Order: sequence, then structure tokens, then C-alpha cells
Amino acid sequence: MLFEYFIFGVAAFVMTGAQCEMTEVFAEAGSQAVLPCKCSSSYSYSPSIIWTKVNSGTVWRKQKSGLQHWGSSWYPKGLQRARCPHSQFERGDCSLEINNVREEDGGVYSCKVESGHKVTENVISLRIIKVSVSQSVAIWGTEVSVSCKVTPWPYGAGVQWMLNSSPFVPLTGIPSVEGVVKERATEKLTGNWTCMVGYKGKQGRASATLTVKGIIQPSKDNTKVYAAVGSEVTLPCVFSSGLIPSSSAWEKLKPGSGFNKPAPGRLPASFSPSSPSTQPSLDNSASLREVGFEDEGRYRCSGIVEGQRLTRNIQLVVAKIESSITSKKKGSMALICKLTDTSEVTDYEWVHVVYDNNGTQSFESIQKGKTLSISKVSEENRGEWTCRFSGKEGILGNVTYQVQLMSGLSGQKSSSLSHNTAAVVGLSILLVVLLLILVQMYKNHQRRKRIFQYPALETIVHTTSNEREERERNREKK
Ligand SMILES: *[C@@H]1O[C@H](CO)[C@@H](O)[C@H](O)[C@H]1NC(C)=O
Ligand SMILES: *[C@@H]1O[C@H](CO)[C@@H](O)[C@H](O)[C@H]1NC(C)=O
Ligand SMILES: *[C@@H]1O[C@H](CO)[C@@H](O)[C@H](O)[C@H]1NC(C)=O
Repeated sequence: MLFEYFIFGVAAFVMTGAQCEMTEVFAEAGSQAVLPCKCSSSYSYSPSIIWTKVNSGTVWRKQKSGLQHWGSSWYPKGLQRARCPHSQFERGDCSLEINNVREEDGGVYSCKVESGHKVTENVISLRIIKVSVSQSVAIWGTEVSVSCKVTPWPYGAGVQWMLNSSPFVPLTGIPSVEGVVKERATEKLTGNWTCMVGYKGKQGRASATLTVKGIIQPSKDNTKVYAAVGSEVTLPCVFSSGLIPSSSAWEKLKPGSGFNKPAPGRLPASFSPSSPSTQPSLDNSASLREVGFEDEGRYRCSGIVEGQRLTRNIQLVVAKIESSITSKKKGSMALICKLTDTSEVTDYEWVHVVYDNNGTQSFESIQKGKTLSISKVSEENRGEWTCRFSGKEGILGNVTYQVQLMSGLSGQKSSSLSHNTAAVVGLSILLVVLLLILVQMYKNHQRRKRIFQYPALETIVHTTSNEREERERNREKK
């Protein structure tokens, strides 16, 4: 009997020695772990199987007779957590299944199959992966950590994070220990976090979800809101459901003030919060009834949630159309689409809005570019001209100009121009007349001067005529 035990021991030692290679098994906490163990199917009779956990005793064992036995911790309250399905024995599979694995289940297991004098042993290392988040619902701006715990930790293993099925690139780079991600909570961190552990060619993974709450609309700081001069605009500020800010407020930030310490300025006259601050609500959006060009700039919405002050900066960009009479081409005018901030604008498009006799609106895209040059006299160009501006993600907004009014103005201008021409013509005629008179006067003057040049000749002419008269008188007397 003693000899037999000795042989047994040696055999076991040899077997263990030969199978020094451990099988690595990863399992996510809470899931089912399967510890593989091969048992030859050529047994003429039922083998005895013993599953043990190193340093903590028997898990499950089956005697040759078929009698099963569970370790006390594996059969709590009549619920068997570990089992070795009989149906698999014939196929040479004596794997152990452990349901709802816990961190403390991590460790080294041994599967010993004894058939007559033949003993085979498999050694399995079970590692439990658990992902935990510091808080499953985090408030925007607070520090959150997501950690990946592997029990026992596989030294030299590589840990990778996936967030919503794509590799996670740390945002803030807060230094952390291996397997831990520390970030300031933003909506980007919301989702399914998966930790992937690779070790000795085997891979394990575990997941957890994180929800970040805060101001959901707009989702980003310094979001731009576009509005045309004179239009009504809404500045959005909506909190996540379940978050009702205790004291919400709006302020306009002075231009040029730094990011950290912005000085509040005055809110425009037409500014009105959608709900009174005394009545807490998820929606704290505000509106400007009539946007002025000078209302552009940064606005800040804020509210206190769970002792944490949440803020969102919104930039109001105002658009207008300026017209100018181009000096180069006569009878044409230029419309210029002007925005207080053009950093996101990539394209301008001019659209002519035409109404037919039935009042149906139709759009006609005319040209691209910031400036539109049109003939102001042409009847076709009457109506609404809209400048549509767009960015990378599509149309950002539009601003409209009425050319009808302009044609009226230009008509007045042309009529005043004709008045001027008449005056000029009249003046010219007057000048010509004056000139003619002057010329006539000069001529007369010149003639008189010519006569005075010969006074003697005049006397001679005079005397001869006198003599002739005398002679004739004498002849009459005769
Ligand atoms: C999280 O992602 C992992 C891996 O992509 C997936 O297996 C798991 O089902 C996901 N969990 C949830 C709650 O979406
Ligand atoms: C305008 O109305 C008239 C009569 O109601 C119709 O015959 C014509 O087709 C309409 N034109 C357009 C452009 O809808
Ligand atoms: C301008 O914007 C308003 C509001 O978004 C829209 O209703 C209108 O159709 C737009 N006009 C043009 C010409 O795109």
C-alpha cells in the first residue's frame, strides 16, 4: 500500500514536471469560466477526477464509483457554482465550469485524472478581469477613473482600452498606473469601456459602462450659433435628464477676456431667458428677439448640479449684407455677405428668391463667393437676395437682402442725376448766349475804333459833300 502511494507520488511528480506549462484562462467577473482539462476517452472504466484550487482545497471530485463531492465554498446554499458535465467525459473532456466568477476565484487550479495506475494532471491559471468606474454616472468636468483589475495580475501583460469598440486615446493624459484611465469627464467618455489584456498569447476582456451628465446641448464649449441681423435667435442650454440645476444664469462675456477669468458684460436689451431662474428646469435656453450686429460675442450659460458648477460658452455670430455701389462698372452694385466670425465658414452661396404671380417661392442659385455683383437697374434682380454660408458640416445659416428697395433708391438717384444734367445744359446755353453777346459787343467796339482811326478822311468826305450841296443850291438859284 505504502509502495503504491510512493509510485503514485513519483508518477504525479513526473506528470507535473512534464506539464510545467500552465494553461492561461481569462474570465470577466460575473461570467462563466471554463477551465479546460483533457481526460482520455480510452478508459475502460470510469476514471476518478479531482479538481482542486491550489492553496484552497478541493473544488469538485468524482470517485470511481461515480460519487460526487463539492468543496464547501463551491456549493453554497445548495447552488452548485462549479460543475463538470458528465456528458462530456466520453469525448475526453473533463473541463470544469464555474458560474458567476468572482475576483477571489482567480488562481491556479489543477485537474487530476486517475485511471488505474495512470494519473494525468492539467494545471490552469484562472485570471478574473474586472472593469470598474469611479462612478457610473459622472458629472461633466469631474475627474473619473476607469480601472481594469486582473486577479492575479499577469506581470508583463499588455493592457489596452477600447471605448465604444474603438481604441481609446487618452485625452488629458493625467498620469495613472497601469490599467487605470483617469480623465476629466466629458461626453466623449460616455459609453462602453472595454479592457483588453493580452498575456502569453491569450486574450481576455471585460467591460463597464460610464455615463457622463451635464449640459447636453450644445455638447461642446464655444459652439457657434449663427443669426442674421434683425432675426430672432435661440441660444441653447439644455441639461441631461435628471440633472436640474439649482441656480442657472446667463451672462455675456466681454470680448478679449481670457479663457479662465472672463469678465461678464451686459446682456443685450432684447435678451430673454426662456424660463425664469426661480423655476428650475432642464432647459435653460435663452433667446434674443432681434439680433443686432453688436450683439455678437460669447455668452455663458451656467447652473449648479450636485455642488458642481457647470458652464457652457456659446458664441453668437451675426451676419449681415452690406451693399455698395461699385465705381468700376456703371449701374451695378455689390452685395457683401459679412459675418462677425468667419472661422468656420468655407463657402458662400447667393440665392435669388423669386415669387411668381401665385406667391410661390422659388430659389435660384446664382453664384458662389462672398461678394455678389448685380445690375441695379435690371428688373430681374428685384426681390430677395439671400447669402447662404456653409461650413464643413453643411449650411450654417443665411441672411437676406431686399433689392426692391434698392432699385427705388437708385431710381431716385437717376432722376436727381437728370435734374443735374438739365441744370448743366441750361447753364451752358446761358454761357453760350453770354459769349455771343460779348462777341457782338467786341465787334461793335472794333468797328467804331476803325472809323476813329481816319478822322481827316471823314472831314474831307464831309467838306466834299458840303461843297457838293452848296453847288447844287447855287444851280437851283440860277
Ligand atoms: C461592450 O463592448 C464589448 C466589446 O466590444 C461587448 O462585448 C459588450 O457586449 C458591450 N457591452 C455593452 C453593455 O454594450
Ligand atoms: C398659378 O395659378 C394659375 C391659376 O390658378 C395656374 O394656372 C398656374 O399654373 C399657377 N402657376 C404656378 C407657377 O403655380
Ligand atoms: C434661410 O434660413 C431659414 C431658416 O433656417 C430657412 O427657412 C430659409 O429657407 C433659408 N433661406 C434660404 C434661401 O436658404
